Amino acid sequence: MKQNIGPILQKKLQICTTKLIIMPKISNKGQQMPESPIRKLVPYSEMAKKNGHKVYHLNIGQPDIKTPEVAIKAVKNSDIEILEYSHSAGFDSYRTKLASSYQKIGLPINKEDIIITTGGSEALLFAIGSTMDAGDEIIIPEPFYANYNGFATASGVKVIPVISTLEQGFSLPPIADFEKLITSKTKAILICNPGNPTGYLYSESEINQLAELVKKHDLFLIADEVYREFVYDDNAKHYSVMNIPGIEENAIMIDSVSKRYSMCGARIGCIVSKNKELMSTALKFAQARLSPPTYEQIASEAALETPQSYFDEVITEYKERRDTLITELNKIPGVKVATPKGAFYCIAQLPVNDADDFAQWLLENFNFNGETVMVAPAAGFYSSPNVGKNEVRIAYVLKKEDLIKSVQILGEALKVYNN
Ligand SMILES: Cc1ncc(COP(=O)(O)O)c(C=O)c1O
Repeated sequence: MKQNIGPILQKKLQICTTKLIIMPKISNKGQQMPESPIRKLVPYSEMAKKNGHKVYHLNIGQPDIKTPEVAIKAVKNSDIEILEYSHSAGFDSYRTKLASSYQKIGLPINKEDIIITTGGSEALLFAIGSTMDAGDEIIIPEPFYANYNGFATASGVKVIPVISTLEQGFSLPPIADFEKLITSKTKAILICNPGNPTGYLYSESEINQLAELVKKHDLFLIADEVYREFVYDDNAKHYSVMNIPGIEENAIMIDSVSKRYSMCGARIGCIVSKNKELMSTALKFAQARLSPPTYEQIASEAALETPQSYFDEVITEYKERRDTLITELNKIPGVKVATPKGAFYCIAQLPVNDADDFAQWLLENFNFNGETVMVAPAAGFYSSPNVGKNEVRIAYVLKKEDLIKSVQILGEALKVYNN
């Protein structure tokens, strides 16, 4: 065969073969980056939609609530002629107003304690980058927001999970469980309050116990508080790490406009700390990426003027959705769920062995009158292997009628799947 093709073709073939053999190599870190459990089933949902099925999205925390008009208008009315870089720490005017909005809710935060970031996501990366080196360890109660695994992997940091259980409503695991895991490599404890995916809200006593622990072992306490406002019960109160006296050097708060103002696409968040060395280190990371986006800072600054009535309506709506979802889920035989106290998620245990397979099957092989649901398999919210395999995370970001329909579909699906 070789003899029949000319020398030029032969040479080309040789180059192609050589190219195939010496492919540039992808990093080990890249190969270890976890897939998002929230997004990995997207191709199956697209296929379900192509096949004419309606898909109810219970898998992703994309609220259907309108962004405050004041934020959208500020962008529309802006008369910027040059879209220039802003300060690496963000607009001075935005940081000033943001600090005063924190002070209004009792958090002693000044402008200097804030760096504006590209979403809470970048704030988490800066927090990990500023406190940990490759090989260091971070303790996180699991199940936790799945991207913590991704941020840790990207930074070469090892996640050490401490398990919280549905039976205990996902409350803080005993402090002794944390203490057992602390080594010379432990640099920080990371909590999400209220929790994604659990909806758990830490009590004052739990936050104080963590404060004692980080003081005792000289650790950072990173608190992801992006769902701070989403607290539903009359007597429930959110306790921020930023107003625990005595841990000013340890506490780092992560915040975001994404959920507060239903502005996920704005990609604006912030890292907040009283620890000056930490903040000057985080600023170097901020300088390396130059600045946060301009129009989105304009929108976020304006969003601070959102009237209280907006939040009152939103919280009432989410509370009703939570109550509807939990009531409906409890009607399905074999389903167990802990009532979330905040955020807009819950973890539900299903009568299946493999929620990953069930979630894919829902999209690939099932429909109820032309409709199906998409849920996030919960195993990806744990870092311990083989945990949460019969659990899914459900986001209650749909209207009540749609939530009722979705849970009905889930119930019908379980009957068919288990047969
Ligand atoms: C707990 C938690 N932290 C951080 C983020 C990231 O938020 P952002 O959109 O601000 O990057 C999310 C997004 O869903 C989240 O749920």
